Amino acid sequence: MHVTHLSLADFRSYARVEVPLDPGVTAFVGANGQGKTNLVEAVGYLASLGSHRVSSDAPLVRMGAERAVIRAAVTQGERSQLVELELNPGKANRARINRSSQVRPRDVLGIVRTVLFAPEDLALVKGDPGERRRFLDELVTARSPRMAGVRSDYERVLKQRNTLLKSAAMARRHGGRSMDLSTLDVWDQHLGRVGAELLAQRLDLIATMQPLTDKAYADVAPGGGPVTLEYRSSVGAEVSPARTRDELYAQLIAALAEVRKQEIERGVTLVGPHRDDLVLGLRGMPAKGYGSHGESWSYALALRLASYELLSSEGNEPVLVLDDVFAELDARRRERLAELVAPGEQVLVTAAVDDDVPGVLAGTRYAVAAGEVERL
Ligand SMILES: Nc1ncnc2c1ncn2[C@@H]1O[C@H](COP(=O)(O)OP(=O)(O)OP(=O)(O)O)[C@@H](O)[C@H]1O
Ligand SMILES: [Mg+2]
Repeated sequence: MHVTHLSLADFRSYARVEVPLDPGVTAFVGANGQGKTNLVEAVGYLASLGSHRVSSDAPLVRMGAERAVIRAAVTQGERSQLVELELNPGKANRARINRSSQVRPRDVLGIVRTVLFAPEDLALVKGDPGERRRFLDELVTARSPRMAGVRSDYERVLKQRNTLLKSAAMARRHGGRSMDLSTLDVWDQHLGRVGAELLAQRLDLIATMQPLTDKAYADVAPGGGPVTLEYRSSVGAEVSPARTRDELYAQLIAALAEVRKQEIERGVTLVGPHRDDLVLGLRGMPAKGYGSHGESWSYALALRLASYELLSSEGNEPVLVLDDVFAELDARRRERLAELVAPGEQVLVTAAVDDDVPGVLAGTRYAVAAGEVERL
């Protein structure tokens, strides 16, 4: 798929901007702080309902404005659609498809698909487990948009279960009445049901991504691998993609039973997908803590390239977004990455310096300066 028009109102630094887009490569070039990333961040938001830079919506709304609107015209094969999201920080966001009546924001997932490379990706390798869980869950959702509902159900159940545990912990400390444990049993079942679904999807994703990531790593850093993706679950070592959903459910329930005493002491849910990690192995060692800076970068690139392979092979080719990545790479890896992404249906690149954009990515250029986006 590709975006044929992007239109923003009160998004980040833009009061209003209209950007017509072609398939193939488009590069946004301009000095620091001029609004290049803001443009591609908006495209990424349509694909994931989140920003790759911030975790809340408030910074996305232009300072002083109440709401932001992102609108995009999208073409996939013969089909064209118009998607629109209105961001209302602190209130519910709104969405429309083809100017018709309102839909839930999560209903727009799947219309715009992106794989976004950014300097922030280094955190995938070097950062906390939460970074890798988000990576997995965003990809799980890109593969299957209905998982957005499962993820939000999981968040909700977890929050409510934690609230219950917290009040149990308080009661215990202050010698109050002990909790009715049957209520907790019910929440265990909810958590187990949604959690098993999320686990199953993550495990299947990792199994599929393993060979793709190994190949992508060999493409960006020849001879530097092999790489291995290993899911480390709080639920236990026996969690594997070979398990059925029912087995995962049973494992999760058993793991919850095992830690229940500690959970009541500490007032927090100690096992489940929210406590898991993806261990990124490089030549038999974890990349985190062992890999060099350059290796970590190559790993992050490989994960994104593998995501692109995966989503493309499963039907609808995503838009490739490369936000400021060339400046971070040495000349050899820059050329390799450029060659790998150049054939993409649509590639959006940002760079502060024109010369940072490799020659094979010749395409449409836009100059971005002081909120104006001008075709060169
Ligand atoms: N909510 C907001 N309201 C108004 N301005 C904002 C808002 N959020 C960010 N900005 C402004 O947007 C600018 C940053 O835009 P952006 O990140 O797109 O820059 P860039 O062109 O990608 O720069 P760089 O080359 O440094 O990456 C900053 O000057 C910032 O002050
Ligand atoms: Mg930028």
